[in-house]
Amino acid sequence: MGKEAASAFGRWFALNDFPVKVALTAVCDLNPEVLSWYDGVPSVKLVTTDYKELLADADVDVVYVALPHHLHQKYYLEVLEAGKDLLGEKPFGIDLLAALEIKAAAEQMGRFVRCSSEMPFLPGPQRVIEEVRSGRLGQIIEIKSGFLHSSDLDPDKPINWKRQNQFCGEIGVMGDLGMHVLHVPLRLGWKPHRLHAQLQKIITERPDGKGGIAICDTWNNAVLNTTVQIDQEDVPMTLEMKRIAPGETNTWYIEVLGTQGGVKYSTKDTKALWTFKCEKEQVWQRTDLGFKGMPFPTITGGIFEPGFPDCFMQMLAAYVAERAGALAGRFGCVTPQEALDSHYIFNAGLKSFASQTVENIHYHQTQPV
Ligand SMILES: NC(=O)c1ccc[n+]([C@@H]2O[C@H](COP(=O)([O-])OP(=O)(O)OC[C@H]3O[C@@H](n4cnc5c(N)ncnc54)[C@H](O)[C@@H]3O)[C@@H](O)[C@H]2O)c1
Repeated sequence: MGKEAASAFGRWFALNDFPVKVALTAVCDLNPEVLSWYDGVPSVKLVTTDYKELLADADVDVVYVALPHHLHQKYYLEVLEAGKDLLGEKPFGIDLLAALEIKAAAEQMGRFVRCSSEMPFLPGPQRVIEEVRSGRLGQIIEIKSGFLHSSDLDPDKPINWKRQNQFCGEIGVMGDLGMHVLHVPLRLGWKPHRLHAQLQKIITERPDGKGGIAICDTWNNAVLNTTVQIDQEDVPMTLEMKRIAPGETNTWYIEVLGTQGGVKYSTKDTKALWTFKCEKEQVWQRTDLGFKGMPFPTITGGIFEPGFPDCFMQMLAAYVAERAGALAGRFGCVTPQEALDSHYIFNAGLKSFASQTVENIHYHQTQPV
């Protein structure tokens, strides 16, 4: 993900009339092979395996930290203590306690902190948000939001830190994909108050990459059947997070159905926004979207289709704009509160599955349930 960020900053000039100039100047990684890649990035002046050297660099204002989940709390806190602002990666701490600590430290130190989630910056999700906020959908009937991967279907894929609880966290796939799934619902005020979780461990052993076999103990798939209150009505909201969803490669989707209309979008068909109308006949209408629905205009023409590097750049632009007080009502990155709320939901998901119960979600507790 560090390379993705470098790629976005490397073409910052593509953003039209953007108020803040940004340059990637310092990089830290423990792996020298990873680090040597950054030799090809002209703006980078400091390349180091010692993160303390990076944090001591007075020219660095903001640090983007993309590390395995068990390292989030330690490194996020050190970034804040060094007086830098932070763009953290999801899940913003390995568990609820870590997320509580990070959020509290950010507040106490008054730093600008956001968490990464880029998919909602695509024009499709932006239009979904617009449709919901317009009121055109009538009374909301149901919501589905999901993020689906499938490379873990291959049993010969060697294990890595993301497939081991000690590095990825007990929340498993929820921590990996859940923040992406919750960003838009939480921003729309859809904070579930109750849930039932279905969690699956499907492939439990993998090659360890050294000729042996390693235990793969994370949850591969999670479906959270939740309830949100919208206009005093309980509404079902299904959150789907899967690393083993056959045929899906980074498919992010959201669907919202109401009594007067509906809207759905999936990155599987990147350009297509589907809107539902019930007039003389019931019609799902497809609209082809181009680049022009991006929150931050770029030199790319309005008819051209955006992709992953584009939404990642839009997310970084939102971070920088909001930090500079120039968001101007546009969609912003995940806040520490939203990241913490996602942990309350995942924590209730773990409890629900372990005890096979429907759980109320308590957003103010300071300990895991
Ligand atoms: N926003 C997204 O779409 C997205 C996608 C993938 C991963 N992520 C998140 O990004 C984070 C990193 O995931 P990734 O896929 O880039 O992982 P990765 O394993 O590809 O990269 C992690 C890097 O951290 C380095 N590293 C490990 N320990 C270190 C230390 N102590 N000091 C310095 N460097 C160290 C490793 O050498 C490696 O290069 C995770 O939080 C993950 O959830 C986000």
